[in-house]
Order: sequence, then C-alpha cells, then structure tokens
Amino acid sequence: MKGWMGKIKALALMSFMAVLLTGCGKENLTALVPKGYGAEESMKLIILTTVIMGGVFLVVIVVLAYVLIRFRRKKGQENYIPKQVEGSKTLETIWTIIPIILVIIMAVPTTLISFDLADASDSKDHINIDVTGNQYWWHFNYQDEDIQTSQDLYIPVGEKVYLNMISNDVIHSFWVPSISGKMDVNPENTNTMYIEAYEEGVYWGKCAELCGPSHSLMDFKVIVVSKEEYEQWVADMKNYDPEKDEPESAVAKEGKDLFEENNCMACHAIGSSPVEVGPNLTNFGNRTKIAGFKEPTKENLVDWLKDPEEIKPGNLMTGKYPQLNDDEAEKIAEYLMQLKVTDVTPESVNN
Ligand code: CUA
Repeated sequence: MKGWMGKIKALALMSFMAVLLTGCGKENLTALVPKGYGAEESMKLIILTTVIMGGVFLVVIVVLAYVLIRFRRKKGQENYIPKQVEGSKTLETIWTIIPIILVIIMAVPTTLISFDLADASDSKDHINIDVTGNQYWWHFNYQDEDIQTSQDLYIPVGEKVYLNMISNDVIHSFWVPSISGKMDVNPENTNTMYIEAYEEGVYWGKCAELCGPSHSLMDFKVIVVSKEEYEQWVADMKNYDPEKDEPESAVAKEGKDLFEENNCMACHAIGSSPVEVGPNLTNFGNRTKIAGFKEPTKENLVDWLKDPEEIKPGNLMTGKYPQLNDDEAEKIAEYLMQLKVTDVTPESVNN
C-alpha cells in the first residue's frame, strides 16, 4: 500500500511539473527566451544564481555523502564518541563567510542592472510613454505624440522606450517577460523603466502584483513593429479624427448612436481625448484581445457588453450603464469592431 502511495505521489508531482513547465514555454510569454534588453539581463542573472545555487547544492550533497560513508559506525566502535566540534570558531567563520560572498556575487549585478533599467537620464532623446495601471487594464499615453491608447502598446524594434508608470488605484506590476523585467506600478509615485525589444512580434504582458479578483486577467500586449511601421502607426493615430469618422454600415451607425445614448463616452474616449476612466477605444477593431484576454470576436464583445462581471469579476464597468439587450449589444459591438484607424495591426507584424 505504501509503495503505491509513493508512486501516485511521484506521478502527481510529475504531472504538476509538466503542466508548470509547459506554461513556461508559452510563446512570447517566457523570461527564458529573452527578446529584449531587460529580459536578456534578467536571463544572465537567472543563469548566475542557478549556477551558484546548483554549486552549493552539489557541494553539500558531496560532503554529506562523504561524511555518511567515511564516518559510519564500524564494528567494535559502538561506544566510540568522536571529537566534538560544537562551537568551533573556524567552522562557524567558514560557513558564515562563504554565504556572504555568494550573496554579494548575486547582489552586485542584480543591483547594477536594476539601477540601469530605471536610469532615465537620457530619456529626452527617446520615446516616452506614460503607463497607468487600472483595475484591470492598462492605459498608454505617448507623451510627445499626444496619442492615447489602451491595452496594446506599439513600440519600434531596437529602440529605447521610456515608461513612466503610475497606478490609478491599487499597486500593479508591469511585466512583459520576453522583453523586460517587472516594475511595480504604485498609486503614490511614478516609477521609470526603459524597455528595448530586439525582434518584431506580439509579446504578452501580465500584471505581476495581486491587485484584486481579476488580477490574473489583467493582460496586455506589446506589439513590436519596424521603425517604418511605427511611424505609420503614429501618423495614423495622430491624424485620426473621430468627429469625421462615420461608420459605413447602418448597423454600426445605430451602434454609434447607442454608444452615445448610453453615455459610454463618460468613461471611454475615442481619439486623443484625455478621458481615461475606462480604456481608450481608438483602433479598438485592431485589438489583439477583448477585455485583455478574450479572442477579438464580435460574439465575445457582445458577451462582454451584456455582462462584464461574468468575464472579469470586480471590473469597474459593471453597473455603470443600463443593461443592454441582445440587439443593442450587437449594434454597439458592430460599431466598436469597425474602429480601425491604421493598417499596422498585430497580424501585419512579422512574428
Ligand atoms: Cu493589476 Cu494584478
């Protein structure tokens, strides 16, 4: 019976590890395949600390095995008591100093890279973006371009991008594992970090600080495009004038009217309006996801509009507008899905 329990436990552990490690390998959501400066530096630290820890583990195991074999009780020595080393100054000193040295070897590069990533001294020469964390979405304000957007952060490949990060409510943590390390996003003070991506692609971002019931759903994307595409994206976003943008289809037009009648604009903006109670919806039709993690289909958007609480518990949209019936939700969804202001889309990016 005992043997069986052992096997079941081993099997359970193996299954758990398999699931865990498969999760680590998710495309563009892994710190183990760095595609940006911060992630690359973090990877070096991961290797350094793993080598040191592995070394310590090996030394301890070897010494333990040696002692167990070399000093095992021999026949005829049953009552022999070896020399006692309790309180030995030499031993105490050795095993105090060695860990201190190891900790210093790990702490110095970790501290240097942390300060380097937060160093904003040359930010004037680069792109500056204000990042605001909200329960449970992200707002991005491109300072120099006066572009407001949410959830999808477009940046050019191979360029430093400075992020000035603050929270609108509780503490969040901005983390794009493939591109950079984490940075806490606090309500009280602005934290700065720069990111630089080496390859074009769509990278997953996560909130890495427990911030409420939908913390694990507070996803976003960093879309790394070529310099030309970035310039195109900036121009399209800047030139977009929501006043002049009339939907083509009759259904979308009705959706636009319903959007206005239901006072959605009190929280959401389309265009470069400073309103940011809720996500800015400019270019919504090109979003990689709906609500941060659902596939961008009209059906999912209708579900969201009808009952956001069901999809993202604790979100601040729930209860802020009259309950929509199927027809109204369909029309508003039709309107939102056609809000596409640029040809630079996640699909057009070389992945
Ligand atoms: Cu925001 Cu977790």
